[in-house]
Amino acid sequence: MPFVKQALDTPTGTTVAPYPPASGNVNVVIDRIECVADANDNLIEAARRVGVDIPYFCYHPRLSIAGQCRMCLVETSDAPGRLVPGCQVRVKEGLKIITDTPAVKENQRACMEFHLVNHPVDCPICDQSGECKLQDYFMQYDHKPSRLHVLKVGKEKREVLGPNVVYDGERCILCTRCVRFMNEVAEEPQLAVMGRGDHSRIGTFPGEPLTSNYSGNTVDICPVGALLSRDFRFATRVWYVQETPSLCAGCSNGCNTVLGTKGDLAYRYLPRHNEAVNQVWLCDEGRLSYHALNTDRLLQPTGRGDVATNVGQAIADAAAALKPLVGIPKLGVLVSARLSLEEQLVAMHFAKNVLGLSRVFCGGTKVGKGDDFLVREDKDPNRNGLLIAADAYGIAVRSFEELTAEIERGEVKALWAAGVDAPSDSRDTFTKLEVFVALAAHGNGLASAATIALPLALHGEQDGSFVNWYGRLQRFRQATVPRGESRSAWAWCSALMKALGMTTKHESAQAVFETHVALSPAIAAVPNWSAIGDEGVVLPGFLPKEWPRRAPRPGSTA
Ligand code: SF4
Ligand code: SF4
Ligand code: FES
Repeated sequence: MPFVKQALDTPTGTTVAPYPPASGNVNVVIDRIECVADANDNLIEAARRVGVDIPYFCYHPRLSIAGQCRMCLVETSDAPGRLVPGCQVRVKEGLKIITDTPAVKENQRACMEFHLVNHPVDCPICDQSGECKLQDYFMQYDHKPSRLHVLKVGKEKREVLGPNVVYDGERCILCTRCVRFMNEVAEEPQLAVMGRGDHSRIGTFPGEPLTSNYSGNTVDICPVGALLSRDFRFATRVWYVQETPSLCAGCSNGCNTVLGTKGDLAYRYLPRHNEAVNQVWLCDEGRLSYHALNTDRLLQPTGRGDVATNVGQAIADAAAALKPLVGIPKLGVLVSARLSLEEQLVAMHFAKNVLGLSRVFCGGTKVGKGDDFLVREDKDPNRNGLLIAADAYGIAVRSFEELTAEIERGEVKALWAAGVDAPSDSRDTFTKLEVFVALAAHGNGLASAATIALPLALHGEQDGSFVNWYGRLQRFRQATVPRGESRSAWAWCSALMKALGMTTKHESAQAVFETHVALSPAIAAVPNWSAIGDEGVVLPGFLPKEWPRRAPRPGSTA
């Protein structure tokens, strides 16, 4: 099934526990089909299990029940001749549920007519078009010309609620999903229903904008085009966006995402369901971190002074610069905690077996603010991967601060850096290096101090894996072609090894992973890439003793 935004309100996948947790079976009959539901199921979820759709707007499996939209009404054997809300009523042993009676159908049609009474039907200029419940349900449950011959009630068309979210009052069907999300999940009650009757609207307290770091989720769960992302608004039509399973690289939580791309540009991250990592949510900072794929990229190899050179020449120059440095104490190696595990493994192989070193310095971003839910203080997605890779080669890991101190003292005069991260306060220190060969995704920051900078592909441009803060190994998939001449760190290392007259088996990320399984005790239990699956596997030895209050964890269901 192609990924669509509305699927975010549905726990998907078969290998994770359903939400809410299963609590035992009950036998029910849905549209004359005998089936087994979970005792926790409401009628919508029970019907979903057997492929019967009960339409709904206000219901969301992770929010309290509001019973607001009335779209989900069905008939049951408990209340013959009456319609009951499928979101509110739970299954019980022997219950008969009928979703296709004339009364149910007429209610669905009437609900659609009601929800569209004041709706502007401006689908051609609406970002939700193509992934909108209102649009889809009109075709499915109404599909009749309007009977309205009076003016519609006009409302605010573009109300900026906060830095990331804009509200279109005319499109809002007042389902209150956004309000309940802010109250119950974000635990920051910044939204409310204001006004009365057909002048009701969603708003914030005057002078207090929607500043929550989780505000983007309200856009995801708004079933219509009333809440829109200011970042994605009018950027492209959703049907041109190709969706690829990916991971957020904004912190060490490793939230599961779908990366939307068109050509070689990234357009958005949406959350991908993983109960034990991010449930179905993303923080706003992470959501917007896809911009790193598009901006300030280093597209061609360059020398100091920003002189561009071609790839063949750059590889020859880099190999020539590194060859005389093999094994000397004044050579340092920096490996970024933002690289994939596969890139880190090959970088460690390069450090040990090509450059003859048994210590590396750890690069990455500085720590930042975390919270008690998804956001971790470590802003690098793969610090644990770096430790695994170093361990596989018996390499000691030193800190970035130790590297800058050693450069300042003149103890390190040459540096091979697999991944330098921009921007950095340490640029001046790195200009003191006599030889500085760097793989860099961005041209600013430390890369501008390199004597040779080779463009590095980012995670959206290659296959690979990260190990999150508690040891979950998770894969991301290549979504776009690498920008310019960029390539992965393992590909650059392989090219340099060939230029130095060595052979390498590192021809793909998968080959890198699978050739290292025997070397690394941490990944030894994962026989191949496909064993990682869509939700990842928890590696031994990383689980923390203390967890942030609401942080999802292995085996968790809420
Ligand atoms: S803005 Fe969207 S989510 Fe919020 S009440 Fe309106 S339709 Fe529902
Ligand atoms: S919590 Fe971390 S991994 Fe998740 S979306 Fe935010 S920055 Fe990205
Ligand atoms: S989904 Fe049941 S009333 Fe809205």
